[in-house]
Amino acid sequence: MTPAALTDSFGRGLRDLRVSVTDRCNFRCLYCLPETEEAANFYRTRFDAVKNPRPLNAPIPIAWKPRDELLTFEEIERVVRIAVEQGIDKVRLTGGEPLLRHGLPDLVARIAKIPGVRDLAMTTNGFFFAQNAEALRAAGLQRVSFSLDSLEAANFKKMTGRDGLREVLHGIERAQELGFAPVKVNAVVIRGTNDHEIERLVEFARTRDLSLRFIEFMPLDSGRTWLKELVMPGREILQRVQAQHALVPVKPASASETARRWTFADGRGELGIIAPVTEPFCGHCNRLRITADGQVRTCLFSLSEHDLKAQLRGGATDGELRARLHDIVRQKEDRHHIGEPGFRQPERTMSCIGG
Ligand code: 5AD
Ligand code: SF4
Repeated sequence: MTPAALTDSFGRGLRDLRVSVTDRCNFRCLYCLPETEEAANFYRTRFDAVKNPRPLNAPIPIAWKPRDELLTFEEIERVVRIAVEQGIDKVRLTGGEPLLRHGLPDLVARIAKIPGVRDLAMTTNGFFFAQNAEALRAAGLQRVSFSLDSLEAANFKKMTGRDGLREVLHGIERAQELGFAPVKVNAVVIRGTNDHEIERLVEFARTRDLSLRFIEFMPLDSGRTWLKELVMPGREILQRVQAQHALVPVKPASASETARRWTFADGRGELGIIAPVTEPFCGHCNRLRITADGQVRTCLFSLSEHDLKAQLRGGATDGELRARLHDIVRQKEDRHHIGEPGFRQPERTMSCIGG
């Protein structure tokens, strides 16, 4: 592989661009955009204030960006093309919920046509996937990751704030019927809320040939209620699965892979565990993000953003945008500081940043 042109000051070459196409979402996941104070503080019945003295941080208000602040499809296409000319070869569309953006298949088609895009994927909550599936496939989308934290209707509603399990399961089925491969399922595990479903999620994924990813809960929620006690460490998730199954480790396809992966010794299924909190992989991070309103983020946990929109709308040439991207990438942080005393949660939640 040719060396990545976009290389940061720590020598990491960037290959993976995550494009948020909207900050809006129809779900209200506990770990992202909890709807009510009660939902945000769902853990308080279990971790009492005596054992866990901690001031309540002010929640981050949810304020959707007005339409004219979002990058247009033309603007997104241009940024992606320039980034791809600089060595990016994986593009993932995210949100909020990307399918809330009207005409998304049109954007997919534009990006799919850019020479050098080797991998084009999307992360979705799945609620509106089925009715868009064919158009997305025809437009050139290659892979889909669904968020699915629970297989129990009531717990699904608790986790996501919405009654949508049926729709999401239907979306997953459609994705498989249409030949998206692999179809991934992401489950964020919150101790005491859905960790009892680990085994069931594993069975579900194995019997359906879905690629399952368990993800540690990260401090990116609008409620600012993240507590380390709520994080189920990847190692513990692994032990739970290993208590039932013999697992065979899979050699990483590249150093920048975030998931540690296993197959099942009986040949059925594949599992990945993403442990950004307890086993950070920052040293090999090859990702760059752009928000729906055109701000480049060099880390999920960046405390500042780089405004590309003003330049895009101010008549910048391709050469100027290219130089700016290089300049931004040189400022990529070495690592995150979750769990350290001075850690500060970013002002924007996962719904604005994109997973
Ligand atoms: N911690 C971990 N994962 C998160 N996601 C959203 N918020 C968080 C968080 N606080 C995940 C979603 C989705 C992807 C976009 O990111 O479950 O799969
Ligand atoms: Fe919406 Fe995804 Fe955030 Fe859930 S995690 S509220 S589906 S953006």
